[in-house]
Amino acid sequence: MLKTLNELENKAMLELPGATSEDALNELRTRYLGRKGLLTQMLRQISGVIAEERPLFGKRSNEIKESLSHAIDEALEKLKASCKNDVLLKETIDVTLPGRAVRLGHLHPITRVSQEICRIFARMGFNVVEGPEVETDYYNFEALNIPKDHPARDMQDTFYVEDNIVLRTHTSPVQIRTMEKMKPPVRILSPGRVYRPDSDVSHTPMFHQIEGLMVDKGVTFGDLKGTLTYFLKQIFGDDILLRFRPSFFPFTEPSAEVDIKCVMCGGKGCRVCGQSGWLEILGSGMVDPAVFENVGYDPEEVTGFAFGLGVERIAMLKYGISDIRLFFENDWRFLEQF
Ligand code: DAH
Repeated sequence: MLKTLNELENKAMLELPGATSEDALNELRTRYLGRKGLLTQMLRQISGVIAEERPLFGKRSNEIKESLSHAIDEALEKLKASCKNDVLLKETIDVTLPGRAVRLGHLHPITRVSQEICRIFARMGFNVVEGPEVETDYYNFEALNIPKDHPARDMQDTFYVEDNIVLRTHTSPVQIRTMEKMKPPVRILSPGRVYRPDSDVSHTPMFHQIEGLMVDKGVTFGDLKGTLTYFLKQIFGDDILLRFRPSFFPFTEPSAEVDIKCVMCGGKGCRVCGQSGWLEILGSGMVDPAVFENVGYDPEEVTGFAFGLGVERIAMLKYGISDIRLFFENDWRFLEQF
């Protein structure tokens, strides 16, 4: 019996090096030392051992149990340590490598110019408000005194969504929405996207406008001139020359377009200014009494001025860009320069 016991020990010790995974080691332990394990089974046969040999048999069994258990524990420890080493080796961090630079983006040039314009008017007490890009015929045309047969309503100049729904062709409808909601005094600025079916070097089907409106008792054309002159000098510099040229818009009376001396040629005449020496920069005028009546203001009591400008146009002149489409191609080499 003792011999069988020793053989069992040898067999187990020989098998041990072959168990190279945690599972294999646990299996070995169960197979020899488990409740139905080989060693346990042998111990159950102790009654069959002759009386003199029994103490020795019991002692050896316990020794084998302990040494095998110990050997398996050790093998498990070693296995865990070497796994950890592997992970450490694989996940080495070379702290001497230079860090990866985080690329910072920046605002789109149109956003920047738009924000700059809003900041200048904010200093004069104008608040920014926004309006919907999908507009009704009423707000985009009717309330602004643009008659049904006006050429701007032509299918060719407006994106129609449905019969009476358009993509707004200008930011002027925000004037109406604002005046419907609040009583004078009003001093607002409204930046946003507008849409027209045009496409060439100076037109894209979507572009940006900023609308301005000031209404109060006693607002004059002098206020309009003073406000817009201050604004244009802030944007293009104090030396800029400008002129107010009589014009026509259905929602203002009188109306004026504002031109600046061409920033490209200094007024001598070039391709950008069409040889005229002047650049048309914005539309403006005194709010037409008919518009006031549409929003329930009394034109006998209040007066006001309004203006609208194209953000792309100002950005092009400010940065000397000759093709408007560059703004929307999202060519990183172009955008990176701002
Ligand atoms: N809405 C005009 C356009 O898109 C621009 C404009 C002109 C706005 C005169 C105004 C204004 O508020 O008074 O061409």
